[in-house]
Amino acid sequence: MNVLLLGSGGREHALAWKLVQSSGLDTLYAAPGNPGIAGLATCVALDATDHAAVVQFARDHAIGLVVIGPEAPLVDGLADTLIAADVPVFGPTRAAAQLEGSKGFTKDLCTRAGIPTAAYARVRSRAEADAAIATFSLPVVIKADGLAAGKGVVIAMSSAEVSAALDALYDDEPAAEAVIEEFLDGEEASLFVLTDGKTLMPFGSAQDHKRVGDGDIGPNTGGMGAYSPALVLTPELEARAIAEIIEPTVRAMAAEGIPFSGVLYAGLMLTAQGPKLIEYNARFGDPEAQVLMPRFKGDLLATMLAVAEGRLATMPPAAFSDDTALTVVMAAQGYPGTPMAGGAIVGIDSARAAGGTVFQAGTRIEDGGLVAAGGRVLAVTATGDDVRDAQAKAYRAAAAIDFPTGFYRHDIGWREVARGD
Ligand code: AMP
Ligand code: GLY
Repeated sequence: MNVLLLGSGGREHALAWKLVQSSGLDTLYAAPGNPGIAGLATCVALDATDHAAVVQFARDHAIGLVVIGPEAPLVDGLADTLIAADVPVFGPTRAAAQLEGSKGFTKDLCTRAGIPTAAYARVRSRAEADAAIATFSLPVVIKADGLAAGKGVVIAMSSAEVSAALDALYDDEPAAEAVIEEFLDGEEASLFVLTDGKTLMPFGSAQDHKRVGDGDIGPNTGGMGAYSPALVLTPELEARAIAEIIEPTVRAMAAEGIPFSGVLYAGLMLTAQGPKLIEYNARFGDPEAQVLMPRFKGDLLATMLAVAEGRLATMPPAAFSDDTALTVVMAAQGYPGTPMAGGAIVGIDSARAAGGTVFQAGTRIEDGGLVAAGGRVLAVTATGDDVRDAQAKAYRAAAAIDFPTGFYRHDIGWREVARGD
């Protein structure tokens, strides 16, 4: 079968890396892909916002499955167009992708389905926001509705910070939609579950590092590193999260006529009262995919196709190796602000020889050499017997890469390492 993978990040490189291990794959196409993906797939210039062009490409190249990596095409309804054209697609419809695309939608669904999450108020003006804030204690969480690449969330510790956050929200857009939330205390973990709208297939856990600097300081990023599994999410807590959060979500979506098909990526807060939902994403995480895929022992193409075709009940449970996988993101200096473009990257082969798997994200080929072309540039993954072992191997591999205009955190996995001490 021919597969079309949409996206260009480290997540998509990891998905491509796993897809090419499937015996049922003939040709993997990627749009637009990146130089790392180009080593595994035929990269094509196809604009994912041009839905008709994607359908035409699928017809012309006998595509049996389209895998949508990032959230934007999902929220834009690309899956709906593919379904209407009878092209199997891994990824939810526009209506189902609201679980990621609209924080207010998800919070209201949690209320209807009795799903544990932070207390909240939806507001649509500065006056409503001020009135809602008065009913919460500090710290309070203020979130812009809609896709914000992790940048639309403020945890306000003081009334001055509340005012600054609300000014930023409402000065330009007086009717901005936002969610005001109770602050949840606890440790965060990510849980992944595949579903075809009916059957659930737990698909592993991970923890990431959102802040740019060592010790979890500095601005938020898309993720500077991750590891899997997240041992803090014990089998008991995972079972609880599935029973109390994921299952009711999948049932409620189906009952409301907008079944969710694809991967549900739940951001959980493990509070003293048990797991609570912070947010959903409607796609794999980046860099979480770079630690999940190396541990997944099954056939990714067969599994994704079963999701797309509503046959997940016929598949065996997803099996993962007992190893820990850890990935270190190498970013370009300036990230998460304006990253320095064009810096040379040498030594991917040396990193591989040192035991790492290098997933590429913001890279391109210039004059025959690999250079940086984005914020997050590489994700260097290694697996080991435990987090300490995986961490040592990932950093050995990262050290083999010569990327003078790049940087990376030196403490990925610290929580898990500290727990093991
Ligand atoms: P979100 O975009 O909703 O995932 O929020 C981004 C980050 O903000 C999360 O990963 C948490 O670290 C933090 N956060 C969001 N909501 C809350 C909350 N209610 N309580 C505490 N931290 C939160
Ligand atoms: N690593 C966070 C995300 O993919 O949303």
